[in-house]
Amino acid sequence: MRDYLEAEHVLAVTSGTAALHLSLLALGIGPGDEVITTSLTWPATANVIVHCGATPVFADVRRGDLNIDPERVAELIGPKTKAILPVHLYGQPADLDPLQAFGLPIVEDAAHAAESRYRGRKLGGLSAATCFSLYATKNIAAGEGGLIATNDATVAEAIDALRVMRRGHGSLYDIPVAGYKANLSDVLASIALVQLDKVERHGVIRQRQFELYDEGLAGVPGVTPVERDARDTHAYHLYAVRIDAEAFGATRDEVQQALTAENIGTSIHFLPVHRLTAYRDRLASSQPDLPITDQAGAELLSLPLSPAHSDDDIRDAIAAVRRVQQRFAA
Ligand SMILES: Cc1ncc(COP(=O)(O)O)c(C=O)c1O
Repeated sequence: MRDYLEAEHVLAVTSGTAALHLSLLALGIGPGDEVITTSLTWPATANVIVHCGATPVFADVRRGDLNIDPERVAELIGPKTKAILPVHLYGQPADLDPLQAFGLPIVEDAAHAAESRYRGRKLGGLSAATCFSLYATKNIAAGEGGLIATNDATVAEAIDALRVMRRGHGSLYDIPVAGYKANLSDVLASIALVQLDKVERHGVIRQRQFELYDEGLAGVPGVTPVERDARDTHAYHLYAVRIDAEAFGATRDEVQQALTAENIGTSIHFLPVHRLTAYRDRLASSQPDLPITDQAGAELLSLPLSPAHSDDDIRDAIAAVRRVQQRFAA
């Protein structure tokens, strides 16, 4: 994994969530601190900040690729800000250079981004910690699991102390910190290594499915794929489109229902975290409105994509989107 992620240290843990949590703890994030992140993500990204006793502050995203907007981050940095937690949404790297220029520790949520490169640089050794998920749906799928990559030996040591209840000599054990039982099991680790061997082959399939969608959905009124930056290597994890209700003739939710009726399963990545019950009443006093996140949260729809799908499956999904659009427009 160290070779693949091009990082000096890679630590395997029980989940992507644990990877993020332990990384923040290793950086000393605690009560009274703020961590700037995005709301357009799986709730785990924000939950781990809360688990540290700190407060998530959500920065709005960029309109094109829906990744955290460094200009909005700049407006939110204050004395309590202790870290930035960008998400590489769908496998498109967030814009790391301007984020790094703020000089704060960065923990990357690379749950979608196992294969990604930012301007040619492999995600893994670029920040204080880069966190991957090995969950069943991810590009390297062990069923459950997570990885933390870092080039910082101090961060790696701190995470290692937190992830196992270490035993010393025989029955006489000692622990350096009150750690968690968050190490990845050997069984899941061996599955992850087999999956790693397949990642390149699966990547080719995923990329082809992206291209089929790009081509097949071009010109469908009200359907716009989320942007990808040609300077970066995308992990092709999720193919998400935005449904413009007016141009399509139906809302995202109506489109999703119509596709279900056509036997096409879709998902929503993601409902904005700041709108979820657990967060509505606990937002930071400095929390700004997030108009781009809110709009995207109402428009996003992820279409079927995986190495288990055939090209014909993808063509079926495209044909169904076209049929549904024509029906609503009629
Ligand atoms: C963006 C993002 N962050 C974090 C996670 C958490 O990973 P895990 O499910 O392995 O805990 C996920 C999982 O779906 C995710 O999509």
